[in-house]
Amino acid sequence: LRVAVLASGRGSNLQALHRAQTEGRLPIALVGVFSDKPGSGAVAYARAHGLPAAALLPSDFPDREAFDVALMQAVAATRPELIVCAGFMRIISKAGIRAAPCPMINIHPSLLPKFPGLHTHARALAAGEHEHGASVHLVDEVLDGGRVLAQARVPVQAGEDPSQLAERVLSREHPLLIATVRAIADGRIRLQGDASARVSWLGDD
Ligand code: GRF
Repeated sequence: LRVAVLASGRGSNLQALHRAQTEGRLPIALVGVFSDKPGSGAVAYARAHGLPAAALLPSDFPDREAFDVALMQAVAATRPELIVCAGFMRIISKAGIRAAPCPMINIHPSLLPKFPGLHTHARALAAGEHEHGASVHLVDEVLDGGRVLAQARVPVQAGEDPSQLAERVLSREHPLLIATVRAIADGRIRLQGDASARVSWLGDD
């Protein structure tokens, strides 16, 4: 499965995918890493490991749509079959989603539909949740609103702060993302069509 990754930040999910791939645990080819942040950890990791990486600056474009379409054109040139948003901290406009060459998934640090958007860990604690976690979902035009493909659950511990909870969730994000991409690569989760992919599950392992 040809996979392109979109990332803005530290890039630990990218690293997890890459490590699983190089260790033979994930049958994918990472065809490109794309970022809106040239100085991000994700871009540095990609360059250090010989992965094709490109950063596009939103400020070089007249508006959000123009950036998103240019980004998707660059992504499409790598002929991906799946786009993984792994800490891509921009909302992709309708025009960008329409320009996506293949289905797109995102990893989000909450048990969607709870807590779409930012600051999920602090919000989960403030809401008194006993359980929190991460979700991998299809990207569509609703922020963090596309169909959920898989989730990992983490019990909230008494007295922990948002960064402690974030760290525990992150350690579950990596195996969750790897398992979900593997299920797509194996055809156990089938995504057909473009970004508005239809999903069918062919059963679990
Ligand atoms: C993760 O928590 C992910 O769920 C969220 O952004 C963070 C990215 O972390 N969307 P990293 O850049 O993969 O380390």
